[in-house]
Amino acid sequence: MFKVFINGYGIIGSRLATAVSKDKSIKLIGIAKYSPDGKTEDAIKSGFNVFVPKDSYKEFRKNNFDISGSIEDAILEADLVIDASSEGNGYKNKKKYYLPAKKKAIFQGGEDRYGEKSVADMIHNSRVNYEQARKKDFVIQGSCNVTGMGKIIQPLVEKYGKSLKRFDVNLIRRWADLEDKKEVKDSIEWDKNPHHQEDLKDFIPKVNLFVDALKVPSRMMHLHQMTIRFRGTPPSKDEILELFQNEFGVAVLKNVKGTGELRKQAIELGFEHGDTSMVHIHDELIRVQDDILKISYSDDQTGMVIPENYMLIQGMLLDKPREEALKKADRIFRINRKKKILERKFRGK
Ligand SMILES: NC(=O)c1ccc[n+]([C@@H]2O[C@H](COP(=O)([O-])OP(=O)(O)OC[C@H]3O[C@@H](n4cnc5c(N)ncnc54)[C@H](OP(=O)(O)O)[C@@H]3O)[C@@H](O)[C@H]2O)c1
Repeated sequence: MFKVFINGYGIIGSRLATAVSKDKSIKLIGIAKYSPDGKTEDAIKSGFNVFVPKDSYKEFRKNNFDISGSIEDAILEADLVIDASSEGNGYKNKKKYYLPAKKKAIFQGGEDRYGEKSVADMIHNSRVNYEQARKKDFVIQGSCNVTGMGKIIQPLVEKYGKSLKRFDVNLIRRWADLEDKKEVKDSIEWDKNPHHQEDLKDFIPKVNLFVDALKVPSRMMHLHQMTIRFRGTPPSKDEILELFQNEFGVAVLKNVKGTGELRKQAIELGFEHGDTSMVHIHDELIRVQDDILKISYSDDQTGMVIPENYMLIQGMLLDKPREEALKKADRIFRINRKKKILERKFRGK
């Protein structure tokens, strides 16, 4: 049986651990913790083996945490490591552990695709380039925003191709996640040089895309405002609704008041970790004006990349074809069921 280790147990790592542990065809060795805090307790209570740096044993044991071994040993045992570390540590981990031990690794969107600290030669988006990731040793899973944009842009590119003149996207991002300890500052801040534009072009190279990213004082979800300029007349709203109705991980919702209402619904409905793991197009914000189509959708930043990482395990480790991997992902994450529940609730469908 193939073995997977999760290096990092924060917002993303803890969700990955829940998902991977549900798949009985893979063995989850355990997770890595670096700080002896409440999350260590949480991991142990959830039944995960906890591995820590060798030189931190004492500190963890002083806090009465039952530790299963060292991170170094867990990596040696693994066939694939999912690196879920805070931005920049993935590069250090690749050099220190994965390369010397010849281990496959999946990195998260906070790592670099280009330059000195590049960790992989591709960014994955399961809607676009899953097949290229099969059997690869190192792949970056696109960030939540890049994943969401790919889910919307790719179907448009496939259907409207050369009629698409340009895409302009404003990414309105939450300040911190709900379970983040970080303080939310009362300010709207902008990103001088957003990485999302180049990241998306890595897997949809011909797209004429311009991105601005703003951070707002919220903990709920992101909202992307996408303006698509066409050569000639844009498609009608009905055509757009039809285009997205059967897209995996894309729901079309009506009369949602905002990202807060949607996140609270996901929690109240008992969705795991309070995630929908998809993007939600807001029906009333689809506008066709002159040669422009506007689409606004909320992007579940915490949940979005978890099925994507799971798909990567299917491709990089198990060499599963996309259709099979998608079916497995749907069994683990119940994306289609959640989509139906949300559409019934917010659309009366
Ligand atoms: N949060 C999101 O919504 C989101 C969405 C998509 C992608 N991402 C990306 O996912 C990655 C992780 O983000 P996150 O939000 O999960 O961060 P996070 O909550 O801050 O968690 C980071 C984790 O990294 C661990 N860590 C510290 N040093 C490490 C090392 N040297 N090697 C491995 N792990 C180490 C930390 O351990 P201790 O706590 O034990 O110190 C912590 O568990 C980033 O690249 C981020 O850009 C995040």
